Amino acid sequence: MKILTSERVRLVPLSEVHESEFVRLANIPEINRRVNKPPFYSQAHFSELLSHPQHAKTRLIWMIEQNARVVGAINTAASGRDGRMFQGGYWIDPAFWGQGIASAALLLVKTHLLEERGAERVQALVEPDNGASIRVLEKCGYEREGLLRKFYPSVDRGLIDVFMYASIA
Ligand SMILES: CC(C)(COP(=O)(O)OP(=O)(O)OC[C@H]1O[C@@H](n2cnc3c(N)ncnc32)[C@H](O)[C@@H]1OP(=O)(O)O)[C@@H](O)C(=O)NCCC(=O)NCCS
Repeated sequence: MKILTSERVRLVPLSEVHESEFVRLANIPEINRRVNKPPFYSQAHFSELLSHPQHAKTRLIWMIEQNARVVGAINTAASGRDGRMFQGGYWIDPAFWGQGIASAALLLVKTHLLEERGAERVQALVEPDNGASIRVLEKCGYEREGLLRKFYPSVDRGLIDVFMYASIA
């Protein structure tokens, strides 16, 4: 897994050194409620994430840095038999919302997956009332494919409706 950079952001592969920042971000209420993390995300959850066999095999997680400061995280995971389809998510510290950071990060990851990892489809699920995330996906060239009803198993609200967005090679 490599560092991805653009003029706006630097994406650094997740490692032990990111524990406190990752845990801090995952517990910010505006992030926690959207990204399906346990209501209290602990250091044990973080260790479990890093040591999970899936982590090395199919998951790619980067911390997003702007001016050498961690401002968010972005992840994706390969699914399907031959790893040509990826699904992911992202979150940004609310103090940095509205500066184009998520869009810059997603564009980097999408390009990396399509051009360097042989992806043929990159997809994302988003709640219909998450206007900012929908805008990020559309700015990055993802297209809405439909509404999946009671599709996503949320941590605390049962099965929820989500839009499927995708970008195809
Ligand atoms: C979604 C999120 C990652 C966006 O991060 P960000 O760095 O602010 O995103 P960007 O600045 O790149 O783009 C946000 C866009 O949404 C727009 N926007 C913000 N709130 C909006 C709303 N309620 N409805 C519609 N558009 C909205 C912004 O104006 C901007 O568009 P513009 O560049 O055309 O002006 C951030 O809000 C977040 O972390 N939310 C909590 C976690 C989350 O929802 N993750 C996604 C799960 S699918």
